[in-house]
Amino acid sequence: MMMEQINESKTYIEEQLSTTKPDIGLILGSGLGILADEIENPKVIPYADIPHFPTSTVSGHKGQLVIGTLQGQHVIAMQGRFHYYEGYSMQQVTFPVRVMKALGVEQLLVTNAAGGINESFNPGDLMLISDHINMMGDNPLIGPNVDELGPRFPDMSQAYSNELMKVAKSCAQEINLNLQEGVYVGNTGPTYETGSEIKLLRTLGGDAVGMSTVPEVIVANHAGMKVLGISCISNMAAGILDQPLSHDEVIETTEKVREDFIKLVKNVIKKMA
Ligand code: 6GU
Repeated sequence: MMMEQINESKTYIEEQLSTTKPDIGLILGSGLGILADEIENPKVIPYADIPHFPTSTVSGHKGQLVIGTLQGQHVIAMQGRFHYYEGYSMQQVTFPVRVMKALGVEQLLVTNAAGGINESFNPGDLMLISDHINMMGDNPLIGPNVDELGPRFPDMSQAYSNELMKVAKSCAQEINLNLQEGVYVGNTGPTYETGSEIKLLRTLGGDAVGMSTVPEVIVANHAGMKVLGISCISNMAAGILDQPLSHDEVIETTEKVREDFIKLVKNVIKKMA
């Protein structure tokens, strides 16, 4: 069933493409979808048109694939992703990653807006994700393992590729960008955390917290893809600054770092093998 759905989505997407198949997958988070506008000779496919794709609901998220070239590389970008808090199952949230893999994508760049837990961070910072902590209380691989997709017990010891992290760091240096580095905690949302929860997550080793990314990265690792993760620290998490958190602030900050973000990601994509 799963393989059939993946293949039907894959076939539909391939039928829309006249160009070569994509090598690099991009998942663009809240307010960061703008990067897809930089893709040349874009083929845009709304999620609603793709068999078996869910459709996205949150403001600030478009729901479409943009396929084309960026810095001479063949890319497929998700402009808008599916979130667990929207009510999608983990399998639905991660379905597009499986389709990307079926299309031939071997490297995945995931981005998100996240709250800063590490007190040395500032809103507007970009953070290279070195690892994650899954606090979602669920896992997209629960259920019978589909051996064609990957192993029953996937290794997550290098969930975020060291090799790609090195590339990202050297790219940041090249453009004089102060790239933070840290551990991303995935929570379900849709509430932001309490101050006490943030204190807990800091104690556990978290540097940033968000409501996405972890499911997609699990499935990408299952599929043997190399992953690079970049968080935009859109706001400080609860209990750090004396101010309430809002989605408007998240979108506002991501708009402000847009240029840095685009510059970094384009440079990284250019240097990916
Ligand atoms: Cl503070 N928490 C979570 N869970 N997600 C966020 C966030 C905070 N800021 C942006 N996204």
